[in-house]
Amino acid sequence: MKIINVKDYEEMSQQACSMLLDVIRNEIKPVLGLATGSTPEGLYQHLIEKYNEQKVSFQETTTFNLDEYVGLDRHDPNSYRFFMNEKLFNHVNIPEENTHVPSGIAPDPNQECYDYEQLIQEADRIDVQVLGLGLNGHIGFNEPGTPFNSRTHVVALDESTRQANARFFDSINDVPTQAITMGIETIMESKSIILLVSGEKKAEPLARLVYGEISEDFPASILQKHENVTIIADEAACANLR
Ligand code: F6R
Repeated sequence: MKIINVKDYEEMSQQACSMLLDVIRNEIKPVLGLATGSTPEGLYQHLIEKYNEQKVSFQETTTFNLDEYVGLDRHDPNSYRFFMNEKLFNHVNIPEENTHVPSGIAPDPNQECYDYEQLIQEADRIDVQVLGLGLNGHIGFNEPGTPFNSRTHVVALDESTRQANARFFDSINDVPTQAITMGIETIMESKSIILLVSGEKKAEPLARLVYGEISEDFPASILQKHENVTIIADEAACANLR
């Protein structure tokens, strides 16, 4: 794993942006894996700026998001589809049909998982997968205990994850209890991975990811085994690294 230690959130976002731009410019048909949450928002802002400056085109880009809440439709402001439209897709020239987020309201969520996994396989590969880090070590919504050989599946969200995400909802009771997430094996098949980590709350999980035992109890630890992972972490998040 390569660790890039940057000053702050802004520098993390800039670095991530320039790495994604390299992929988008170098691949004929780039395939990006994207995350939601607070961590990648700055990255998306920078991508929009580069697009506005005509430094990049998303015309040939395909995207796959990591996850979606079960029960929320695309117009719900808390759905991850809504987030992606608002934070990135609506502001650049990516064709809508090239953007993929699992449907939270599919009549059969397990079928939706199967179909989503098929779409990823048909795209052949994800060139670069952007990840954030959950406080409990989750990546995507793969909570502790998720088998490392999992593919896209329905998960019951940890109480700690629901609490961490309650800040976006009116109350904790409104936070869905289930989500669809790309599996750990699906994520690990990406050609490269960029993990973004910012803030002091992430210092302990980041140290565990880097030095800890590789265990399904801490899903992000599997990244130690991936051949091409870059961690971009700010000073606060690096506090516990030696
Ligand atoms: C989001 C996702 C999650 C987040 C993680 C960190 O699509 O898959 O794993 O990356 O929960 O969230 P933030 O960035 O809000 O701290």
